[in-house]
Amino acid sequence: MSLQKNILVVVGTRPEAIKMAPVVLALRDQSWAKVTVLATAQHRQMLDQVLEAFSIRADIDLDIMRPNQSLAQLTARILAAMDDVLSDRTFDVALVQGDTTTVMAVALACFYRRIPVGHVEAGLRTGDMGNPFPEEMNRIVAGNLARWHFAPTESSRENLLREGFDDASIHVTGNTVIDALMQVASRDPKLDIALPEGKRLILVTAHRRENFGAPFREICQAVLDIVQCHADVHVLYPVHPNPNVKSVAEEMLGRHASITLCPPLDYVPFIAALQRAYLILSDSGGVQEEAPALGKPVLVLRNETERPEAVAAEVVRLVGPRREAIVQAANELLTDPHVYRQMARGVSPYGDGRAAGRIVDILRQDLAGA
Ligand code: UD1
Ligand code: UDP
Repeated sequence: MSLQKNILVVVGTRPEAIKMAPVVLALRDQSWAKVTVLATAQHRQMLDQVLEAFSIRADIDLDIMRPNQSLAQLTARILAAMDDVLSDRTFDVALVQGDTTTVMAVALACFYRRIPVGHVEAGLRTGDMGNPFPEEMNRIVAGNLARWHFAPTESSRENLLREGFDDASIHVTGNTVIDALMQVASRDPKLDIALPEGKRLILVTAHRRENFGAPFREICQAVLDIVQCHADVHVLYPVHPNPNVKSVAEEMLGRHASITLCPPLDYVPFIAALQRAYLILSDSGGVQEEAPALGKPVLVLRNETERPEAVAAEVVRLVGPRREAIVQAANELLTDPHVYRQMARGVSPYGDGRAAGRIVDILRQDLAGA
């Protein structure tokens, strides 16, 4: 009889793959663990490139993504496909990461089949169901279905305690995104995109659903204002393939000499872009965690964040998707070296690069009793 424990590790989108890769690699070193990687492929190309960067192959691929998929269709397809998988095979634990539709639907499918769930990056909250949408709901559902809550920070642990979760089920581990960042940074990543020499680089990313429409147009207008005011600035904007984002970005920013639009960068060159950037404008969750660790100021294009630690450390500033606020904050950072130095201090409130090891240790103790 095998004493190995069957561990299902699920990824669906780009950020889940980035943040789960260190966990998969750490689990594969464990003799007690038999790891099955399942990709829902809620994202297709953006997921595949991350798995490749970490030399991980999905053992099961549900190939779910459809162009411009609706949230309900996506949820229904994941639930049905997961149920097929779980009716054939059983697992001692399923690990999910973050707050995407994959996480919510997979946790629910596992609940129905009575498979214990471990939630990686547990306890992030804004307290507002509409911001971010639908992620706040996704992580609340996943949290309520989880047996293990791997919280990245003390404040995410406190959020879970406030909601009544048992202290013994919550483990503060740090965020595995910093493990991934450190692994890639040590490879001396290169950005293979031609950019003008001698200009300060502003890196832009945006994809949040609550910013679709007018807020996203304000963000684009702010980018235009910034390049018009600062001749020594160049913008690099890898555009998210969501059609709601892509069409507007191309229409508003596609023909400006100081703006380079490109398809999503693969993870390794994206880290090189972060390293090269002077300033970052983003509504991304992961970028809010990575950039402070690299000493890069971020203006967050959202009204609320579930990552308050870097805001409190004053290395990330919440400006909202508002043209005037974005331009004013960017102007200050581009013209006042003191303000810039304060925000570019280089702190890492989200992890020390050893989160995956802590998660594996906890699972080993609880599952293998060692
Ligand atoms: C999703 C997550 C969001 C996460 C983001 C990370 C949900 C509801 N949203 O948002 O929490 O922050 O991923 O990027 O779970 N597409 C492609 N190729 C890809 C990926 C996406 O063409 O590799 C296009 C497709 O048209 C797809 C659309 O983008 O239908 C939207 O993808 P989806 O995963 O539904 O939402 P995101 O906006 O990517
Ligand atoms: N990222 C990337 N290429 C890009 C933009 C972002 O590899 O062109 C990485 C980034 O390093 C971070 C992650 O994708 O780790 C964040 O993903 P995204 O912003 O799509 O989702 P979120 O973190 O907001 O859920």
